This record gives sequence, C-alpha cells and structure tokens, in this order.
Amino acid sequence: MSDSVVVAGAVCDGGRLLAARRSAPPELAGRWELPGGKQEPGESGEQALVRELREELGVEAEPLERIPGEWPLKPGYVLRVWTVRLVSGEPSPLEDHDELRWLAAGEADTVDWLDQDRPAVAEAVRRLLDA
Ligand code: CDP
Repeated sequence: MSDSVVVAGAVCDGGRLLAARRSAPPELAGRWELPGGKQEPGESGEQALVRELREELGVEAEPLERIPGEWPLKPGYVLRVWTVRLVSGEPSPLEDHDELRWLAAGEADTVDWLDQDRPAVAEAVRRLLDA
C-alpha cells in the first residue's frame, strides 16, 4: 500500500517565510513546522493544502510550486511541500499551533524546525533569496 501524504506550505510573503509552532502532540509541541496536514481521499495535494491552511491559519492561499522530493515522517507517512502565496487574510494560529512567526531568509535558523521539515525549509529559503 502506498504511503499516506502530509502536505505542507512554505507560505512566503514580502520576502519572509511563515513558521508555525506546534501545540500538540506533546512529543512535537514547541517545535516549528511548515503548516499543513493530511491529504484526505479524493483530494489533490493542492486541494488538501488549501483546506489545511484555511482551517489552521484562517487564510485563503494559493499553492505555487511543489518543492521537489518527499520526506519520510512516522511509518506510513510522507511529507510533500509547496511554495504558497497568500491570497487573503492574516494568518492566525487557529488550530494545532500556538505561535506564528514570519522569518526573513537570514532568520530561518532561529527556530527549532521539525527535523523532517528542514530540507524543504532550506529549499524554500533558497527560493526566497532568488526571488
Ligand atoms: O491536521 P492533520 O491531523 O491532518 O495533520 P497534522 O497533525 O498537522 O500532521 C500530521 C502529521 O504530519 C503529524 O505527525 C505532524 O507532525 C506531521 N507534519 C510534519 O512532520 N511536518 C509538517 N510540516 C506538517 C505535519
């Protein structure tokens, strides 16, 4: 059986990347991630990402480009990441997170990212610097 997919967004705005601090479960609380969640049956990755960012942050967002690759999570799950543009709304930590922070490219190392998010964060920062 193929792995289940978790989708996450490298939300970029004004040359900064959005980092979200997890509030649960206990083993992940306090670590920072690219916001997202599980892709449900019948959804494309992009659709799942738009839904998750609406639920978790209260924003309308547009996936731009998939960051190549996928990264293993717990057994049976892989992480896929897109760069994302905000269409409307101001992100708030509505669900799963207790703090949000906008990081300039040079500040990306100032939060404790989940290990599995680090390669995608590095790639998103590289794209921010190229933009
Ligand atoms: O919101 P939903 O229950 O769909 O998913 P979630 O709990 O936010 O994420 C599902 C799993 O993916 C959790 O184990 C997260 O730790 C993991 N995840 C991750 O490793 N990196 C992300 N950027 C987003 C989620």
